Amino acid sequence: MSNDNTSKKRSKDSIANVLIVAISLCLVCSVLVSTAAVVLRPIQERNKAIDRKKNILKAAGLLEEGKAVDELFKQIETKMVELATGEYVEHIDLQKYKLKQALKDPELSAPLAAKEDIAKLRRQEKYSVVYLVKDQEQIKNIILPIRGAGLYSTLYGFLALDRNGSTISGMSFYEQGETPGLGGEIENPRWLAKWQGKQIYDATGAAKIEVIKGVVDKSRPEAVHQVDSIAGATLTSRGVGNLVRFWFSEAGYQPLLSRISTPSG
Ligand SMILES: Cc1cc2nc3c(=O)[nH]c(=O)nc-3n(C[C@H](O)[C@H](O)[C@H](O)COP(=O)(O)O)c2cc1C
Repeated sequence: MSNDNTSKKRSKDSIANVLIVAISLCLVCSVLVSTAAVVLRPIQERNKAIDRKKNILKAAGLLEEGKAVDELFKQIETKMVELATGEYVEHIDLQKYKLKQALKDPELSAPLAAKEDIAKLRRQEKYSVVYLVKDQEQIKNIILPIRGAGLYSTLYGFLALDRNGSTISGMSFYEQGETPGLGGEIENPRWLAKWQGKQIYDATGAAKIEVIKGVVDKSRPEAVHQVDSIAGATLTSRGVGNLVRFWFSEAGYQPLLSRISTPSG
C-alpha cells in the first residue's frame, strides 16, 4: 500500500508531468496576453487619438475642463498640406495617414541633408496634417505639428500661431522621453506659457526664435524672439528651440504660412 502511494507520487513528479504543466501554463498565459493585446489595441489607439486632439486644443488654448474633447474639436478644420509648396492636397486620406509609416515610405518622405537637419530628424515627411481654427471663414489660429530631437528622445508636439503667421499663441508636447523633472519639464504649462506672444520671424522673414540659457533680458529688442531655457535642462530646451526654427524654415511650414497668413493678424 505504502509502496503504491510512493510510486504514484513519483509519477506525479516525473519530468514529463512537470514539462506538461509548464508548457500548458505558458500556452494559457500567452493566449491571455495576446488576447489582451488584440482586444486592447483599438482602445489604446482611440486613447492616443484623443490625447493628440487634447494637445492640439491645448496648444490653441481651446481645451476646457469638463467638456468632451471630440465636441471641442469640432471647431477645428483639419487639412493636409504639401510642405514644399504650402498648397492643400486632397489625394491623401487624412483618416488613414500615419506619420511613422509615412517616414518609411519614399513616396511620402525624403532624407534630410545634415546641414539643414537642425532638429536631427534624418527624414522628413513631404505632407503634413495642419489644423485651422476659423472665425467666420477667416483663419484665427493655425496649429502645426512639430517634432525634433531632445537630449534622449524625439519630442512630438504642436505649436499654435496667430493669423499673422509669426506670433506664437501656444505650444504643447504629447510624446517625449526626457528625464522627468529635467527635460520632461517641456510639458510644464509654466514653461510653455513663456512661448506665448513670442515672434518666430524677424523683420527679414528669417526664423529667429531661440532658447537662451538663463533668463531673457526683456529690455532688449531681441527678447521677442527669445525664451528662457529650463534650469538644469538646457540641452532639451535647446532642442525645442532648434525644432521650432526647423519647422518654421523654408523646409517646414514657411511656404504654407506665406500663402495663408494675414499680416494685420
Ligand atoms: C540623470 C541625469 C538626467 C538628465 N536629464 C536631462 C534631460 O532630460 N534634459 C537635459 O537637458 N538635461 C538633462 N541632464 C543634464 C544635462 O546632462 C546637462 O547637464 C544640462 O542639460 C545642462 O543644463 P544646465 O546648464 O541648465 O545645467 C541630466 C543629467 C543627469 C545626470
